Amino acid sequence: MNQFYSPGWAFWIGSVTIVSIVALFIFLRGTAKQTVFRDKQGNPIATTGHVWDGDLQEFNNPLPRWWLGLFVITLVFAAVYLALYGGLAFYGGVLGFSSDKMYQQESAAFDARIEPLYAGYMKTPIPQLAANPTAMATGQRMFLTYCSQCHGSDAGGTKGFPNLTIKNAAAWLYGNSPDVLVQTITEGRQGMMPPMGAAVGGAPGVTAVANYVRSLTGLAHDSALAVKGKALFANACAACHGANAEGNKALGAPNLADPKRQWLFGSSMESIEHTVENGRSGHMPAQKDYLSPEKIHLLAAYIYSLSHAEQAAPASR
Ligand code: HEC
Ligand code: HEC
Repeated sequence: MNQFYSPGWAFWIGSVTIVSIVALFIFLRGTAKQTVFRDKQGNPIATTGHVWDGDLQEFNNPLPRWWLGLFVITLVFAAVYLALYGGLAFYGGVLGFSSDKMYQQESAAFDARIEPLYAGYMKTPIPQLAANPTAMATGQRMFLTYCSQCHGSDAGGTKGFPNLTIKNAAAWLYGNSPDVLVQTITEGRQGMMPPMGAAVGGAPGVTAVANYVRSLTGLAHDSALAVKGKALFANACAACHGANAEGNKALGAPNLADPKRQWLFGSSMESIEHTVENGRSGHMPAQKDYLSPEKIHLLAAYIYSLSHAEQAAPASR
């Protein structure tokens, strides 16, 4: 809402408040004095002189003192409150209170409280930290907050978003060693597979190379086309994916030859053809502007725990 704020409004709100308080005070003083009503002859009378329905009269009594006193107290309270707490918008108040400052102070106090905890985590090597259940419970909460919208709440990934629970290190795009995890989370990653349709000679080449890619992991394919595709692959793809399609972690080019691999974009003939034809560019956003090195260290340990634990990985999609 800040962008709608102009200082003129502060003065408008402040002056309306002050004018109302002063006006109420004058009004109260007015009602505190008893007006004396007189009859036609000029003699003081006890009523206001109004008569309804022939006999219904209004007595002329001032507000009871205690009642008037309560009103005065509310006005004094308002004046003191506004002097201390800056409800007048243009004046910050003697105490300089603001909800923004209160939030800053509270979160600073919270950070100061947990700082030693994170400092301890930071000193613990990632494989060791991954075995600490308290730390991993915090790591999981952080993962749910910052990462699950893309990687899934079980870190199992989905189309275009890698599964982070894979135990087989060879199947990772960039790797799941402690240093690589920290690097990935801190700096982010940009997978870059350019459109390769033209490089393999158009649609027939795309189909041939897709058959070859499927043959690598034992998926149904046309052998004659796969043979043609193999030559095309050596030419157009091996530079990134490796001569034996074993992948290249420096580029994030997936290993296409691992029979147990989980496909990032799908293993069907159509998805592979689509990948070759149009390329792919998965983007993992860098976290260094949002998360402290301590939090990144803890998150890396959490991912490490998921991808190194003995128990079975969550069901793949
Ligand atoms: C906006 C979506 C998005 C968010 C949020 C996100 N990621 Fe990613 N992440 C990706 C994508 C997409 C990739 C694959 C990058 C590529 O294709 O090269 C990826 C890749 C990774 C990898 C590398 C996987 C491999 O096989 O080497 C790790 C580790 C990772 N993310 C961890 C995290 C963690 C931890 C968080 C939370 C701090 C996070 N990601 C948040 C989209 C996201
Ligand atoms: C410039 C390097 C580069 C070249 C050349 C390249 N790729 Fe890729 N390829 C990648 C990268 C990087 C990814 C991962 C993209 C991402 O993470 O978004 C990828 C992804 C793929 C995938 C998706 C795998 C999955 O799990 O869904 C397939 C299939 C693939 N490449 C096949 C090929 C074929 C076939 C060729 C040759 C025609 C080729 N690539 C050429 C870098 C390359």
